Amino acid sequence: MKTGERVHGGWAPERSLDSVVACHAIAELGRNLARAGFINRFGRLQIDDEHDAALAELALGRCVDVSIAAHWLGGPEPLLALLQTGLATITEESRFSLSFEVLSDGKAMALLPFLDSSTEVPVDSVYAGTDTWLLRDQAWKYGLQGKRAIDLGTGTGLVAAFLTSRFESVVATDINQRAARTAQLGRELLPESAKSRMHVVTNDVAAGLRPGTFDFVCVNAPWVPAHRANGRIYSQGGETGFELPRRFILEGTELLAPGGIFIALCAELSFTDNSNPLRELLADLDSDGFVTQIDPTPVTHPFFAATEATSETSPDLQSARHATVVVQRKQ
Ligand SMILES: C[S@@+](CC[C@H](N)C(=O)[O-])C[C@H]1O[C@@H](n2cnc3c(N)ncnc32)[C@H](O)[C@@H]1O
Repeated sequence: MKTGERVHGGWAPERSLDSVVACHAIAELGRNLARAGFINRFGRLQIDDEHDAALAELALGRCVDVSIAAHWLGGPEPLLALLQTGLATITEESRFSLSFEVLSDGKAMALLPFLDSSTEVPVDSVYAGTDTWLLRDQAWKYGLQGKRAIDLGTGTGLVAAFLTSRFESVVATDINQRAARTAQLGRELLPESAKSRMHVVTNDVAAGLRPGTFDFVCVNAPWVPAHRANGRIYSQGGETGFELPRRFILEGTELLAPGGIFIALCAELSFTDNSNPLRELLADLDSDGFVTQIDPTPVTHPFFAATEATSETSPDLQSARHATVVVQRKQ
């Protein structure tokens, strides 16, 4: 797993959410990036015209001249609002940098804050990694029809933002308030039509949501066993790593309307006593009238390096693989 890599002092999106001018600055940045064809999927960076190179530098959280930053963010006043609300820093040499990078597939965008500290990853860090893009691609493949979608455990909100291009209404949820507020601030990057379709809430898995009302449900579930997760909300999946994914699958499939599709990225674990909790859970869902399948993730995914380390400290674990679980509620 990977979170933002550069260090800044204290990510506090609520301060910027309270500032109309700071929100306008983010919106202006979003408009400029959309016009410039900015794409930033870790390792895949693109901008249509090299005249916009400084804009791309700014959106990656790199230092640019303060006058250039003011040009792309709507003027000196928005720049000041970002500095005052902790979303940016400035050096004595008038070099300006944002406290986040912008993730973008060319349409959907989100903010990924840099880490607060070089020495430790805080338990409430906001997460994005290569699996974020895998979830986005699987949502593209499976999230094909209906009006209402939900992204459980949304993190930066990138996948929820993406879903606004296909669904009339998209809910983004997270138990981590810092993540929910980051997703809320990231909405400001989106065009008005997409922004008005995306609703962010803080909650635990599917608590408080009405069952049977979503046409598409997705989640990139935390799967790291508690003894290896250091309390990090974005990675900790419970004692074996499957307890939280189990809740996401059970509560997430309850949300499905007839014909609706649920997808979850998670780990399939099998143990030396021949138990395989994911397969057992899906067998129960099959007998409850759902249609289920497991779509294995290609072996190049970084999960595979991580599972080797996990199996060293979990002697009962026989094998682990990363997969997309797909569940459909029958019509
Ligand atoms: C692996 S991260 C994925 C984030 C995002 N969906 C993505 O793909 O980039 C898991 C997310 O689930 C959230 N989460 C953890 N436990 C949760 C719970 N009980 N209810 C809701 N969200 C939870 C974390 O805060 C984190 O944002």
